[in-house]
Amino acid sequence: MKLDLLGEHADRAYPILASLITPRPIAWVTTLHENGKVNAAPFSFFNMIGDDPPMLMFCPGNREDGTPKDTARNCRRSGEFVVNLVDAPLCEMMVRTSASHAAEVSETEIEGIETSASSMITTPRISAAPAALECKLHDILEIGGNRMVIGIVHCVHVRDSLYDPIQQRILAHNYQVIGRMASPDWYCTTLDQFEIQRPR
Ligand SMILES: Cc1cc2nc3c(=O)[nH]c(=O)nc-3n(C[C@H](O)[C@H](O)[C@H](O)COP(=O)(O)O)c2cc1C
Repeated sequence: MKLDLLGEHADRAYPILASLITPRPIAWVTTLHENGKVNAAPFSFFNMIGDDPPMLMFCPGNREDGTPKDTARNCRRSGEFVVNLVDAPLCEMMVRTSASHAAEVSETEIEGIETSASSMITTPRISAAPAALECKLHDILEIGGNRMVIGIVHCVHVRDSLYDPIQQRILAHNYQVIGRMASPDWYCTTLDQFEIQRPR
């Protein structure tokens, strides 16, 4: 099959690409509303984009009525956000926070999700997350109907069992992160990993 995503199949671009470009990591992003309440929502258009400086991006689209999602709005206003990473025990809770609520409503309050103070920014992080990345906003790019939020990672919190302080490495075997698979509702675990050494 040949699919023309800017022509005949343009209205299928999302389900086709989102089901092919898998697994995708999930950013469970916390932001602060001006009323002080914590917003939480998942985004799988997400990745690391560099290490000097340490940078990541995620892409909140618009709601159906054309207005920005709360996360994008809060990032632009406050200039900061936390990317909380998601392992299997947190998966269902993470999905529940994708429900659409009014901007001033806190998903962490509604779902009873415990948060902890961040170290370098005002926005709290999710206490149970295996890792949380405190970010300051670098830029928001708007490309067509897409929006890319780019952040600089200032501080990483990682669960003690996931970090080897001698080697200063993440213990990947203990990190059971989940990924997003075919649109809309499929996920994967990362329990079946293998290693291939690169040529020197
Ligand atoms: C696993 C998962 C991944 C998602 N990824 C995205 C994404 O990359 N971009 C996006 O705009 N919405 C994505 N969504 C939908 C948002 O989470 C949803 O629109 C949410 O209500 C936005 O919340 P907010 O208005 O509080 O920012 C995803 C939902 C789920 C369950």
